[in-house]
Amino acid sequence: MAELNELLNSSLGNSFKGKDFLTLQDYTTEELLYILKVAKSLKLNRLQTVLSGKTLGMIFAKSSTRTRVSFEVGIYQLGGMPLFLNTQDIQLGRGETVADTARVLSRYLDGIMIRTFAQDDVEQLAKWGSIPVINGLTDEYHPCQAMADYLTILERFNKLEGLKIAYIGDGNNVANSLMIGAAKFGLDFSIACPEGFEPPASLVSYAKEVGKDTGSNIEIVREPKDAVKGASAVYTDVWVSMGQEEEMLERKRIFSGYQINNKLMGHANDDAIILHCLPAHKGEEISEEAMEGLQSAVFDQAENRLHVQKAIMALVMRD
Ligand code: CP
Ligand code: NVA
Repeated sequence: MAELNELLNSSLGNSFKGKDFLTLQDYTTEELLYILKVAKSLKLNRLQTVLSGKTLGMIFAKSSTRTRVSFEVGIYQLGGMPLFLNTQDIQLGRGETVADTARVLSRYLDGIMIRTFAQDDVEQLAKWGSIPVINGLTDEYHPCQAMADYLTILERFNKLEGLKIAYIGDGNNVANSLMIGAAKFGLDFSIACPEGFEPPASLVSYAKEVGKDTGSNIEIVREPKDAVKGASAVYTDVWVSMGQEEEMLERKRIFSGYQINNKLMGHANDDAIILHCLPAHKGEEISEEAMEGLQSAVFDQAENRLHVQKAIMALVMRD
């Protein structure tokens, strides 16, 4: 395993400095694989203070357990410190613009992680700010999650290219980033979702285009059992995402057949793993037995948030 400093100081490692991490589209396959390599190195040796004295502002407009705790612990383990900024407590929540917030925070901080609704707010923050901005989930994307997901798959199967990942349920933020990741890393991606709940058509076209170069096949099907055929990883997420609470009853009806359970896993590869970004609603998108069973890798996956996010911070926030 390469030493962390060697990885950070290579020409590729240096090329990340000062960059934002807003979507996986912004990075090449080589760069994304490099982030996973740095994450593996950091996982082996957690206290490496390459961001000594640096501060990370963490803006949250939505709830979080994993993202908040893994970023806070992550920046601390790298030698820096976090500031938790709930939008209800800062002036952003009272109408101060994203552009002004970005310019002010850039004078104090060395990096910003933001979880919010509109992807455009994250893009604006990055545009107006002069420090790296990391996307900790928007309505459209969850790129840090996808990186943790692919680290988990890589650890289990020792490769990414050529594998198949199946996603069951809502074509949401998590599905979008997962699909782009599959295309970039060369995995086949099959999503089973009800009509009208596919990832946006423009993203599907983008993924298919990228997939032509990497050998990744992207498909949308209706039947979960069709999606999981030949899959090494079977993934799901909640039927009702943050901000969609008013649609809860209707969504529960529409998605009722879209559950990962032992019966569905019988159609996947024998050695397939079960992934879920969490939090889970057991009995809805995943059965209790599937989540607690031997195929479940969901807690390794949650742990890997810490390692990949530390890798991203170490690469983009260094001097
Ligand atoms: N998976 C994920 O982002 O979890 P949190 O909402 O708890 O941060
Ligand atoms: N799709 C979910 C993911 C939570 C981590 C949401 O946006 O609420």
